[in-house]
Amino acid sequence: MSWFVEENMGWSQTYDKRSTWTVEIPESQVGEHSIIHYTPANESDWHPYFERYVRARKESPHLKKYTTLVRNNHWITIMQDSFTEFEEHQWLWGHATGDILVTGLGIGFVNEWLIKAPGVKSVTIIEKNQDVIDMVWDHCAKDERFTLIHADADTWEIPEGSSWDCIWIDHEISGPTHITEITDKYQPYTNNLGFYGQFKNLDNYYEIDADSGMLEIRDPNQKLEWM
Ligand SMILES: C[S@@+](CC[C@H](N)C(=O)[O-])C[C@H]1O[C@@H](n2cnc3c(N)ncnc32)[C@H](O)[C@@H]1O
Repeated sequence: MSWFVEENMGWSQTYDKRSTWTVEIPESQVGEHSIIHYTPANESDWHPYFERYVRARKESPHLKKYTTLVRNNHWITIMQDSFTEFEEHQWLWGHATGDILVTGLGIGFVNEWLIKAPGVKSVTIIEKNQDVIDMVWDHCAKDERFTLIHADADTWEIPEGSSWDCIWIDHEISGPTHITEITDKYQPYTNNLGFYGQFKNLDNYYEIDADSGMLEIRDPNQKLEWM
C-alpha cells in the first residue's frame, strides 16, 4: 500500500513530476487470469501490449515494479499500477466522497486512494470474474468500509432504495452503446457518475504529495505534457 512519485524527467518547466499508486498483490494465476509483475528482469516475457504501452506512455519500469492483471489470449493487459492509469482515474480522485460504488476490482488500484481519502464512508466494488477476486481481494487495500459483490455490473440487479454519492464505472466497456446503457442503468442512483478515462475538462487535476501520500491539486484543466 503505497505511492510513487517521479521527478526531474526533464520534459518541461511546467510538468516535471508525476505520481501513481502502487499495489502489493503477489503474482498468481487463477483460471484465465494472472497477476504478473513486470520489471526489466523479465522484459522478454512481457505482454506485447505492455511493451508498446511502456514506450508510448513513457512509463518507467526501470524505476518501479509494475503489477499487472492479464487475461489469457487477451489483446491488452487489463490493469496496471501505472502513471497513465493514475491520469485516467483523475475524475475519481476529485469526486470520491461519501458512499461510493466502483465497477471492476482489477488490482485494487483505486482502493489505495479510497482507503485514505477524507470523507469516504463506504466503498462497494462489483467484480464479475471470480479469478480476479481470488487473486486480489485478500491482498488489496481495504478496511471494514469496503464490500465486494461478485456480479456482472451490466446485469446486476441494483437493490431497491440504493443510492451513492459517487459511482465510478471502471469495468470493461465495449463502446458508445455500452456507455449509454451503463449511464441509463446507474445515473438514477447518483448525482456523481464518472467513467474510467474521463480526464479532459476536469475542474482540477491531482498528483500525489511525495511525503504524505495525499492528493494535492495540480494546475486546473492541464494534462501532463506526455499524455
Ligand atoms: C480496468 S480493471 C478495473 C480497475 C480497478 N478499479 C482497480 O482499481 O484496479 C477492469 C475490471 O473489471 C472486471 N470486469 C470486466 N467486466 C465486468 C463486468 N461486466 N462487471 C464487473 N466487472 C467486470 C475485470 O475482471 C477487471 O477486474
